[in-house]
Amino acid sequence: MQITIGRKPLEQIEADALVVPVFEGSKETRFGAGDLFDAGEIAGKPLELTLLHHVPGVAATRILLAGAGKLEKFDTAEMRKLAGAAVRHLKSKSVKKIALALGPDHAGADYAAAAVEGAILGDYEPDVYKTGDDKKSVDEFLVVGAGAGVEEGAGRGRTIAEAQNFARALVNEPPNRLTPVKMGEAARKMASEYGLACEVMEREEMEKLGMGALLGVAMGSAEPPVLIVIRYRPAQTESKIHLGLVGKGVTFDTGGISIKPAEGMDKMKYDMAGGAAMIGAMRAIAQLKPEIAVTAFVPCVENMPGSRAQRPGDIVVAMSGKTIDVLNTDAEGRLILADALTYARQQGCTHLVDAATLTGAIVVALGHLNVGLFSNDDGMRDRVLQASKAEGERMWAMPLDDDYKELLKSAFADLANIGGRWGGAITAAMFLKEFADPAPWVHLDIAGTAWLDESKPFLAEGPTGLPVRTLVRLAMEWKD
Ligand code: BES
Ligand code: ZN
Ligand code: ZN
Repeated sequence: MQITIGRKPLEQIEADALVVPVFEGSKETRFGAGDLFDAGEIAGKPLELTLLHHVPGVAATRILLAGAGKLEKFDTAEMRKLAGAAVRHLKSKSVKKIALALGPDHAGADYAAAAVEGAILGDYEPDVYKTGDDKKSVDEFLVVGAGAGVEEGAGRGRTIAEAQNFARALVNEPPNRLTPVKMGEAARKMASEYGLACEVMEREEMEKLGMGALLGVAMGSAEPPVLIVIRYRPAQTESKIHLGLVGKGVTFDTGGISIKPAEGMDKMKYDMAGGAAMIGAMRAIAQLKPEIAVTAFVPCVENMPGSRAQRPGDIVVAMSGKTIDVLNTDAEGRLILADALTYARQQGCTHLVDAATLTGAIVVALGHLNVGLFSNDDGMRDRVLQASKAEGERMWAMPLDDDYKELLKSAFADLANIGGRWGGAITAAMFLKEFADPAPWVHLDIAGTAWLDESKPFLAEGPTGLPVRTLVRLAMEWKD
């Protein structure tokens, strides 16, 4: 989709459709909206869409009145959704060139960015493997606004949304095609396109480093594991901050010997969504160039119950030296992340964020609306929460009291890899903390938010690409 900027009066904008936000109670009278308000046919409620043809005095073929809700509640998150819903509605009608009026109250760079993001994210469909010729997509999205920062905002929004769609496309790849090695190749290709350094570590090197937790998970699969490392370094900086982005890259999770039920197992191709988000974030970071150093670490494995698979009761030695009693082979994410976190610290990261589709328990706790956020550091927690709020990627801080550690006791090793029936998302986070400490660290459990089971007006079903935008903003806003 091509992104362009328009500065003419709305009446003169040439497009197949011009999207005009209308607010609740605002009494917009232009473009025929006055009559519709008076007749009670529109109210301006969020995402209420009304399509009009050949409005007199207007160059655009169609006007789409897009409900925007109450003016005082309208923010960039609402703008993103509005643009996404408008694009999805119009493209279903084969509209090719869409213009959107930012309006005088929302003419700044951040609203332009949000509108472009909404449009690009809304246009994405997880249909690459459908062979029909009836696929619909929008050719051009024209942002109409007079504000100073519209160009910069639109450009930034495009970079971020394309990075998020890149992550979604990776997650959407089926597990027979996206093996750990293929995921390494995809990362390497992205890195070379955007001028980032990238290494794809193989089994032999992992063995030398003593990554017994990661290697244990890989044993059941014929597909070899890889650890993807992607480095961004700022050209000139005073900053001593080195942010490590660690993402779970399980290309398919059968559960291993502690095998999962057949029902819904197909969805476990999304078990690399945390890793995909880190690779996607690096793609945007390479272009937007924050002032801090950022390195992504993505351990990729397939969790299979092959004849060489690890067993419940196996004890593995992690890279940190800690011994782990593998009581359940389906709690594999924390095992691969343990070694990736240790390696990230060894590589000089001063601060860590991990993202992982780690537990079913976080879905029980928070449903599909909030990412579960865990941290060992208040300052770091607030930074991430603030970035997530600004990006409309909702996150909720969960507890991580030391007392939970008791639940991970094992009679035979330093730690068990599961914590019993209750508080499963917390015990999983507690396990990771053992490997992240003492670095300030945030863990994001995205099991409930990385995948949409049903499409929304502004987003297709399937991979969501969370939390790419939060990670990019976190890096961009870090100045000390
Ligand atoms: N990838 C899953 C987490 C998951 C489960 C995401 C269900 C979405 C829906 C993870 O590897 C896993 O299997 N976790 C187990 C942990 C348990 C064995 C302690 C879980 O949550 O059931
Ligand atoms: Zn699992
Ligand atoms: Zn898993």
